[in-house]
Amino acid sequence: MTTESEPCQESSVKKFIKYFYQGNLNFSLLPEDVEKMDWNWQQEFLDATVNSKLLKEYPISGKFASLFLKKIIQHLERNQEVHDEFYEHLCTSMNNVDKDGFSYRHYLIDNDINNAITIKETKNMVVNGTTGLKTWEAALMLSDWALCNKNIFSNKNVLELGSGVGFTGISISKYCNAKSMMLTDCHDDVLKTISDNIHINFPQLQKEEENNITWFKDQDKSLGIMPLDWNAIDDLPEDLVPDVLIGADIVYDPSILQPLANVIQTFCLRNKKLEVYIASVIRNEDTFNGFLKTLGEMDLHYETIELPKCVHIEWNQSINRSLLKIYSKLK
Ligand SMILES: C[S@@+](CC[C@H](N)C(=O)[O-])C[C@H]1O[C@@H](n2cnc3c(N)ncnc32)[C@H](O)[C@@H]1O
Repeated sequence: MTTESEPCQESSVKKFIKYFYQGNLNFSLLPEDVEKMDWNWQQEFLDATVNSKLLKEYPISGKFASLFLKKIIQHLERNQEVHDEFYEHLCTSMNNVDKDGFSYRHYLIDNDINNAITIKETKNMVVNGTTGLKTWEAALMLSDWALCNKNIFSNKNVLELGSGVGFTGISISKYCNAKSMMLTDCHDDVLKTISDNIHINFPQLQKEEENNITWFKDQDKSLGIMPLDWNAIDDLPEDLVPDVLIGADIVYDPSILQPLANVIQTFCLRNKKLEVYIASVIRNEDTFNGFLKTLGEMDLHYETIELPKCVHIEWNQSINRSLLKIYSKLK
């Protein structure tokens, strides 16, 4: 990954391209940065961002794009000739209102603009009573760890609990060679958005409806979407027997800790070799410890996996975080 201190012009452009894709407005523009932002720098930045085919097809938030471009233009105007297209894109972005609150984010893998996962999502933490319509930090963290540990998922049937917009399930399916990936959630708007996001990232797959499951398939890949409410485990189809169970940012509400532990236990009873990986941002220690206590009461073991740094995907390393591996004591 590029570091901020690299001196050449190419890395200066890459640094700002990275900020743009990260949705980061908190960058500082030092005089030495602005000095490098000549016409070629500006053209390279525009081509990799707002001029790119990806962004034309799937535009990012107009509000963010206009704030970002405005900040760059303000600094450029004092020291450089400003590329006309900066002003054109600023006008377009200012008029670009997010449709129904949704826009697209492009999460770069290894900071490569040709290797992105595109996610339709909102900026809001809660929409229509669900937290599932944006990508949370734990989803990025779990995906990054999975990309470093592909063997755990390779050729396995993976099921994700509380998938939200689907970043983790999509990234594991795309990069870790899972045999099948079942993304689940309890909210209708969330399930619909997962479907849109699978289609965006795997346009080649055929969509098929089967019972309560929407499948996206070809010879090599298989992703499914199904409703799964942790409060209704009696409804779980009996033939649903994953090898690996995952979840990102699903330990946050004291009222769902027991139902969540019940689902994990149910799948552990179905497959004694099941491996469970739950990534969390610990916002409230009592809630998180309540989950650990509930696991203990349900005869479920856990161990903590260290997550020292970002490798393939950027996530906020200042967060209080946890990655648990959970398994049944009945092994
Ligand atoms: C904070 S979001 C995390 C979404 C996603 N995993 C991520 O990290 O970006 C929590 C998710 O859990 C889902 N959820 C909450 N309660 C649930 C329940 N009882 N059954 C199934 N899913 C639930 C929500 O709909 C939401 O998508």
